Formats: sequence, C-alpha cells, structure tokens
Amino acid sequence: MVISRRGSGSLTLPSGQTLTTHTRTQDEEDLPHATKRTMADHLRKYDTLFTLTPQRMRMIVEAFKDTLELGLEKSEQIVPMIPTFVFGWPTGEEKGDYLAVDLGGTNLRVCLVTVQGDGKFEITQSKYRLTEEQKHGDGQKLFDFCAECLKTFIDTSLADSDGAATLKDGKKLPLGFTFSYPCTQDRIDQGILIRWTKGFGATDTEGQDVAAMFRNSLEKYQLPVELTALINDTTGTLIASNYVNPQTRIACIFGTGCNAAYMEHVKDIPKITSLGIDESAEMAINCEWGAFDSFEHEHLPRTKYDITVDETSNKPGEQAFEKLISGRYLGEILRLVICELIDEGVLFLGQNTYKLENPYVFDTAFLSLMESDPTDELLMIIGIFTHFFAVETTLAERQFFRALAKLIGRRAARLSACGIAAIVGKMGYLDEGCSVGADGSLYNKYPGFADRIHEGLVDIFGERGRKIITHHAEDGSGVGSAIIAAMTKKRKDAGLYVSL
Ligand code: BGC
Repeated sequence: MVISRRGSGSLTLPSGQTLTTHTRTQDEEDLPHATKRTMADHLRKYDTLFTLTPQRMRMIVEAFKDTLELGLEKSEQIVPMIPTFVFGWPTGEEKGDYLAVDLGGTNLRVCLVTVQGDGKFEITQSKYRLTEEQKHGDGQKLFDFCAECLKTFIDTSLADSDGAATLKDGKKLPLGFTFSYPCTQDRIDQGILIRWTKGFGATDTEGQDVAAMFRNSLEKYQLPVELTALINDTTGTLIASNYVNPQTRIACIFGTGCNAAYMEHVKDIPKITSLGIDESAEMAINCEWGAFDSFEHEHLPRTKYDITVDETSNKPGEQAFEKLISGRYLGEILRLVICELIDEGVLFLGQNTYKLENPYVFDTAFLSLMESDPTDELLMIIGIFTHFFAVETTLAERQFFRALAKLIGRRAARLSACGIAAIVGKMGYLDEGCSVGADGSLYNKYPGFADRIHEGLVDIFGERGRKIITHHAEDGSGVGSAIIAAMTKKRKDAGLYVSL
C-alpha cells in the first residue's frame, strides 16, 4: 500500500474493496466539531477504562492458572481443558498425502497436504465463503456444504490432465477435519460440540457428534475419504509449529476467535485417570480459554461496552475472555464508544450518523488500518469515515479514534499475554523459555500486536518474560491436521488402540 503524506491516495481493504483517501482542509470548520481539548478529556477517561496495569495482569494470571488446573481435574468446567487424543510431538519424519477440511470462522478451506518429512510439506488449497444462512441454518446442511466443496476439490485437484480420477479404485485418502469450536472428545475421530462460538448458531448441532454428522455428509457424496482425525485449529497449530520449530510448546490463535493449546503430561490430567493411559505419555490439551471468566465475570475488567457486546451477542455470558480479545469483537467495542459519544452530542453533531449505528459495521480491520495510518493528517482515517460511514472528521477526532483503537488493541494483546503467562507459569517454562506459535488475523495483521504481547509478558514476569517468544505459526488447520492424521495412522499401524 502506498499512500502519500498529503493529497489523495488509495488502498485495498482486506474485503477487496478499494478505499480512496483525500486530504481535507477548510471544510473541517464548516460543521460543529468537538475541540481538541474535549477529545483529549474523553481520551483520558477511556485510557483509564481500557488500560491494564501489571498488577492487575498478575492477578488475572493467578486466577487463570487456577482455572486451567480445575479444567484438568474435573469434567464440564467453564474452561473445559479438552484432552485431544493427540499424543506427543511429531518426529518431523511424518510423510504422506492427506486431505484437510477446515471449518473455522469466516471461510471454509479444503486442502491437499503432502507431508514430506524433515519439517517439509506442500499444500494445494481452495477457499469457500460461508454465508450467514449456512452459519445459522440446519447443522447437517452445513456439513453437506463442506462435503460438496470437498467433492469439487477432489474432482479438480485429484484429477489428471484428462480429468480422470487419480485415486485407485477403492483407495481412500485420510481426511483431517479441523473444526474450530469446543468439542469434547473420547477418541481422536469423534467430538461432541459443547457450544458454537464466533457468532455461529447452526441448529441441531450442539450436543451432537460433529464427526459423525460430517461422515453422514461424506457418505451422501460418496467421497473416497476416511475421516481419521477431528482437530481444533490450536491443536493443529501446536503440532505444525513444533514440526518446523521443535522449541514450540504452546500454540495460540488470535483471529475471529481466540484460544490456545499446549502439551500436557497425562499424569497431570486427573479427569482421564480412569482411561488407564500410560502415565508417562503426553497429550495435547485444547484449553478453550476463550471461555475464561464466562458467566460469573469475576476476574476480567469489563467495561460497559464489553457488557453490551456480550448481552447483545447470540451467546450472552459465554466466551467472556474471547469477547475482549478476538477480531470478531474489537471493532464493535470501538463502534459502541463512538455511538456513545454521538449520543452525548460530542461527535458528528449535525451529520447523519445512521451508517455507524448498525452493530458490527465497524470491522476490526479498520482498527488495524487506523493504527497503521502513516500520514500526518490521518488520511486513511478520513477515508474510512467518509467512504464507509459518510461522516466528516477533524484531525482532533481522527487522532482520538486512532488513540482509542490503540487502547482497545493493546488491551486485547495484554490479556492475551495473561493467558500465555498462565500456561507458561503452570508448566514451569519460564526458566528455560519457550516458543509460542501464534496465528490468526489479529496476530498476523494488527500492527504491533505481537510486540504488545511481549511487553505484557515482561510486565507480568519481569525481564524473564523476554524468554517467552511468540512467532508466526505454521498453518495448523491444514498442515497440522495432516501431520496429526499421519501421527494417528502410525499409532494405529503400531497396534495402539485408537483412543489411546
Ligand atoms: C473456539 C476455539 C477456536 C478459536 C480460534 C474459539 O471461538 O471456541 O475452538 O480454537 O475460536 O479459532
């Protein structure tokens, strides 16, 4: 993106739309705008509301650690700490062709992954957009759609140049299904959906075995595949990141949703003692930490905007931690602050603000763009407000919006640091230090998000916090899923019972 410091420019948004930006000068005086001083006063108020002190962060970490322990001890806890039946780290020598279907949030992705050993792989993929109707309609139909997309992918990607199928008759390709919602598992190829998150709400799916539902759909389309593993995106990210960087101990997703996975000693998961698994084994845990502090709301500092986001969501009370952090909600939090200032007559007096009044119109990508605006006059912010919301802004207002975005983005990163610190503290990784594989649109695209996590870790642990380093993770939902399918096959071939 090239944007001049003065005059006009244009940029392409993540949505693919082109945004034209213009410098404005005298017309700023034409409408009754808030003064610089008023905006600075308001900013002070929000600064207090959205800033997390190191002391507060350390308190959150302590409560978080207790919650993680509780989830390992007993079933059906708010943070469920789900045993994934993914045993130990990959050797790096896993090999083979695997299909992966990734149902995560915004898109559906289908991939063919060739795992080549030595930390290497190749991937071919197609993406399909999910409609709101699919997210909220009949659950079985959603899985049918996944199967239909997989069929299209197989018919095109697995055909030779004459269009003939390359799979030998009767041969089935192993398929990893990355389903990034909380599911309790008794085996690696099964999972009961606890609850939808990230605004999904397809019917007749919660409480059901989603792997079985997907198998029904695969049968309908008579696909030459065998669903061998149901995995969460964080578990996939953990394994894929460790495959290429063996220092990786924890994986996090900071995208539409937010969650983490790590490798736990089986002896420290009391709730599965009755399964009789070898105590010296290790198993990946999908924390589902987005649910931290749900319902009771005892530990997290929620503002009235966060409470509104929660109460107007399709799942009030749930995913309390995620609602303060993930990309699905940050833009909405900022929009609610703006709307309050409009109602108080501070912003946009005399202008028609109806476009800003629709929930979720303020995309989190706008916060990223506002924070990274390189121009003195904040041309990008002018562009966002005129183009998408048809309102004029002054420089003082734009500076305020940018500062507000920074407060909301920084709080999200510092809370993320609290979650990471809880796992690090619980597992005793601080002395040696460790690598955290992280993925998702916030982590990858929000300017300074990783640096703010690192600052947060130093605020929590002091200088020792510098030994915990996040890095951009490998594609967990595709590559991770394939490596897990390969690891599972190896266990099966070695005669290990599928659930162990
Ligand atoms: C889901 C998790 C997922 C995370 C990131 C959350 O809403 O509950 O299962 O890992 O989003 O995609």
